Amino acid sequence: MHPLMKTLQQDHYNFLKLLNCVQREVDMLESGQMERPFNVMLVVDALDYLKTYPEQWHHPLEDALVKKLHARADEQAKEVDWLMAEHKSLEAQTKIAQRVYQQIAAGHVVPRERLIEETRGFVHGQLAHIHRENARLYPLLIRLLTDDDMDAVAEAVPEREDGLFGSLQRAQYQHLGAELVHEAAMTQGQRPEKDGGFVKSGL
Ligand SMILES: [Fe+2]
Ligand SMILES: [Fe+2]
Repeated sequence: MHPLMKTLQQDHYNFLKLLNCVQREVDMLESGQMERPFNVMLVVDALDYLKTYPEQWHHPLEDALVKKLHARADEQAKEVDWLMAEHKSLEAQTKIAQRVYQQIAAGHVVPRERLIEETRGFVHGQLAHIHRENARLYPLLIRLLTDDDMDAVAEAVPEREDGLFGSLQRAQYQHLGAELVHEAAMTQGQRPEKDGGFVKSGL
């Protein structure tokens, strides 16, 4: 598989781990069984990362690959165009969730229900998009694009440093990184699979 596809798959795997951490916080808040305080900063940083890195690199790369797909197989590419349209709505949804947390940071009282609703909406939107791409888009890209296509896209989209999972972790994300080391539930035992999907270990 081309290294570009491997990186995209790894991105999805990383995003899932992060979303799982956020989900755990919201689950705890909703259950009302607060064995520890709600980790606001974890969610703030996760929102920042999932806004910055995908917007700067992951989404433009997928958009460029789908453009290449149109040149190779226009009809099949049309079937996944709607997935690329989701990028804008995901970015807008992330911004809305960020605003709620900015209000908290500014000392405003945000109803617990609203916090849960906006955070869940963000997590669900992201998860659904990733799963749809793993099932529909990535297998098409792997099957229909050539190495030359991938090389051309890799050159056209300037590489961005991954501030959380990359080698140069931004100071802002350091405690998030520590949290991810302990991340266990949803993505534990899962690994990127060669067809673009995910499998549970042992299967
Ligand atoms: Fe995407
Ligand atoms: Fe993606």
